[in-house]
Amino acid sequence: MENIRRIDPISPDRERIREAAEIIRRGGTVAFPTETVYGLGANALDDEACKKIFSIKGRQQDNPIIVHINDFEQLESVAQGLRGKIREGFERVWPGPLTVVLEKKNVGIVPTAGLDTIAVRMPAHRIPQELIRESGRPIAAPSANKSGRPSPVFASEVFEDLGTKVSLILDGGPAYFGVESTVVIFKDGEIMILRPGAFSAEDLKEIFKMKVKISGVSSDTPISPGMKYRHYAPEKELYLGISEETILEECKRGDALFIGSAETAKKINSESIVLGSRKDLYEVAKNLFPSFRKLDKSRYSRGVIEGFEEKGIGLAIMNRIIKATGGRKLQNNEKRE
Ligand code: TXA
Ligand code: MG
Repeated sequence: MENIRRIDPISPDRERIREAAEIIRRGGTVAFPTETVYGLGANALDDEACKKIFSIKGRQQDNPIIVHINDFEQLESVAQGLRGKIREGFERVWPGPLTVVLEKKNVGIVPTAGLDTIAVRMPAHRIPQELIRESGRPIAAPSANKSGRPSPVFASEVFEDLGTKVSLILDGGPAYFGVESTVVIFKDGEIMILRPGAFSAEDLKEIFKMKVKISGVSSDTPISPGMKYRHYAPEKELYLGISEETILEECKRGDALFIGSAETAKKINSESIVLGSRKDLYEVAKNLFPSFRKLDKSRYSRGVIEGFEEKGIGLAIMNRIIKATGGRKLQNNEKRE
């Protein structure tokens, strides 16, 4: 683990940041925590550097990468700027876990996979902020997992997936939310959510005072290319338990590991992975991706996860659960679909 370095997430060590920024400027890759999940970063304006991200992750070439910026001036160096009411909204929410798809400026940025749009966000975490500032570059960074695997919440999970293929992994402790940013596009006076995430649909509506629509994930030609791939998935089979009865029945037999709320876990007399209380969906979100990795390391051949209310961050939680189960549901004892 010689490529992992500890760093304080609140007041990051200058020397360490300089070392990481130097790698970015020279066309290398650095993994770092953000307020959502860990990202695998490279200089967004360097073709060859961005190609490394795709090969390290095993990512499909047609899946564009989010570009991280520090201020509105830097935003305008890569994308058409934000105006009026939308700009005012972003002045309130940024830095934060909201990504916006904009028309791209003609600067030949590779991570956009040939699209004429670019996804941009301003992270609310000192480490990427300092890294962008010190390197003087916008940083392209997808989640730092192997393609298809759950996004990493801990530096050790980045190492588990990418090992020493990354030049440097900055270990700043756990990412804060545990789910990725919300990806949106503004169109015809409405907001379309392309990927639900840490920023809630309710807050979008409240801040931008616009109608919020959620794009269909199953569409054949999704606007957000990443949504069409199987994602966030454990290697073991995972089922969504439709009712508490079927979950209890399945887990009593002892061959499935329960993943869910503290409230339901109490009723199950077998081993389980507790995500948190139903009353604290932020806690549940933080523990979700790590629970998929725990399932893979457990002695169980499959897992049963319960559903959560699609309110606030719950919408992102359910989106990730459904992707992780690949649509498998547990209807009754024998019937699995
Ligand atoms: O929280 C996050 O967003 C994390 C941290 C590291 O910032 N990053 C992240 O990136 O989750 P990634 O690459 O794993 O997911 C980016 C998503 C994908 O679904 C991708 O298809 C979509 O954003 N996306 C990127 N550029 C796009 C574009 N120009 N148009 C539409 N969707 C885009
Ligand atoms: Mg990802």
